Amino acid sequence: MTAHHLPPAPVRLARYTKDDQAEILGDTTDAFGVASLGLTWLPKEEHFGIRLDGRLVAHTGLLRLPIAIGELETEVMGVGGVAVAADLRGRGLARAVIGAALEYARTVGPPYALLFCRPPIAPVYRRLGWRTVEGEVEVRQPGGVVVMPLCTLWTPLREGVEWPGGAVRLLSLPM
Ligand SMILES: CC(C)(COP(=O)(O)OP(=O)(O)OC[C@H]1O[C@@H](n2cnc3c(N)ncnc32)[C@H](O)[C@@H]1OP(=O)(O)O)[C@@H](O)C(=O)NCCC(=O)NCCS
Repeated sequence: MTAHHLPPAPVRLARYTKDDQAEILGDTTDAFGVASLGLTWLPKEEHFGIRLDGRLVAHTGLLRLPIAIGELETEVMGVGGVAVAADLRGRGLARAVIGAALEYARTVGPPYALLFCRPPIAPVYRRLGWRTVEGEVEVRQPGGVVVMPLCTLWTPLREGVEWPGGAVRLLSLPM
């Protein structure tokens, strides 16, 4: 991308409502293609966005969550609600807004960022340096513990950290 076409700088959003999501993705009922899974998700706590000519065109949310990875009990910065306006995809907006969210996430404390996505989207995150968590990942649901049917990916938030390996249990609802 040339300097003339750099995306506008991402900003921290004070809030992110249903209307904000509709401004990006339109008034769809299943923007992320996961409704059929019937999972319960947590809203995100921190929000980052990109505005183009006053319109919100990209978003990434963050939420700090407890996790067990093998014997290790730690925390992750959960990433979710990644969305780019359909007419503006393929121009680096996801790269930019996720980058801004991760820059902030690195100041919070957890050593890893974690996200769930449908298998067809995983290559996007791998292009951005995320790595696949192999094996089953358990998450909590209102009725008990379930195995997450989506792909799980992680990226380090500190220099040199590695994924420890072992059974992965998110000790909360997913984000
Ligand atoms: C997934 C999504 C956020 C990507 O946004 P985007 O702005 O098009 O992504 P970017 O342009 O920043 O691309 C990031 C990288 O992924 C690559 N990429 C983009 N779409 C891709 C695809 N379908 N398959 C493989 N790679 C892809 C890009 O080439 C880029 O890599 P590069 O910089 O090395 O060339 C967007 O398609 C979207 O909003 N989809 C609907 C909502 C959704 O499913 N969100 C994901 C929830 S987990």
